[in-house]
Amino acid sequence: MTVLARVPETLRRQNDVLYILDQRALPHSEEELALTTIEEVRDAIIHLAVRSVPAISIAAAYGMLLGLKELPLNVLQDVLQSRGHYLVAARPTAVNLSWSISRLLAVAKASAEQELIENLYKEAKSIHEEDRQARRKIGEHGKSLLRDGMNILTHCNAGSLAVSELDIALAPIYCGKESGINVHVYVDETRPLLQGARLTTCEPGRADIPRTLMTDNMAAHFMSLGRIDIVIVGADRVVPNGDVANKIGTLNLAILCRYFSIPFYVACPTSTLDVETASGADIDIERRDRAEVTYLAGTRIAPEYTKVSNPGFDITPADLISGIVTEQGIIDPCDITA
Ligand code: MRU
Repeated sequence: MTVLARVPETLRRQNDVLYILDQRALPHSEEELALTTIEEVRDAIIHLAVRSVPAISIAAAYGMLLGLKELPLNVLQDVLQSRGHYLVAARPTAVNLSWSISRLLAVAKASAEQELIENLYKEAKSIHEEDRQARRKIGEHGKSLLRDGMNILTHCNAGSLAVSELDIALAPIYCGKESGINVHVYVDETRPLLQGARLTTCEPGRADIPRTLMTDNMAAHFMSLGRIDIVIVGADRVVPNGDVANKIGTLNLAILCRYFSIPFYVACPTSTLDVETASGADIDIERRDRAEVTYLAGTRIAPEYTKVSNPGFDITPADLISGIVTEQGIIDPCDITA
């Protein structure tokens, strides 16, 4: 197992097949899944073969279109509607999933039958391209938060594995490095599925940025020793009152940051803003399979009868967030205008 030598392509579409880098196999091996049906796409999203909000929203956009050419033109609108509902339910907290599907459905509605498929492909490609550009801009805005020699803690993976060249939460670090700002990254392992240990450890390594892996319960200790200067995480949903849903464990870090007076930033594209949900308390938190907690790398680590609760995300209140780094700039979470 080594740091990956290059950024693997998270997903690509070719000849009506959606190829997904299976993130469950990382960092042991790079395996590609070839998806040809909407059921396979949903399964890949639910089981985190493709994961993180930007990646699943792009996978869903391309996935919506699989096999459409084989269908009669007069059923396409209905098929797209039902595929949309089917995919949105796969990961309820990740708002970008419904955002990208709504974009496709709006294009479908506005398109004449003959042009519909071509227009949908163009829209899916735009969603993908916009994500690339947003990352670069998030990096450029976010690098103003960094100083040479800083220690940054991040949680989960908002990564280039999440789709494009730049990890969203780490984009400021990559852009900072291009401007001569050298930092060190602490990576939370991120139980239960270890996205930090398995994925984020590889990413900064590829850009030659030093990183140290730690278990989730070490954060307070390192903060108390003055070893963390700033925390930057991604987001699965931001709501108008500034509350943020992100990977379970994010709230712990935000609370610790308040105690130790450490800045706590969220990095995400503005497409993660959900204007229809008033506050964090109204966000639907994904509940995941108990086996993710009772098993580790295929080995059972708790008795079979153990009662388990496995929320995939938690809500960090706006009050604990120093700022949200978006492609439009760094915004105060208490200042979000819908
Ligand atoms: O369950 P996952 O691995 O999809 O969770 C991913 C995260 O929580 C990321 O931090 C989030 O999607 C942000 S990506 C900008």
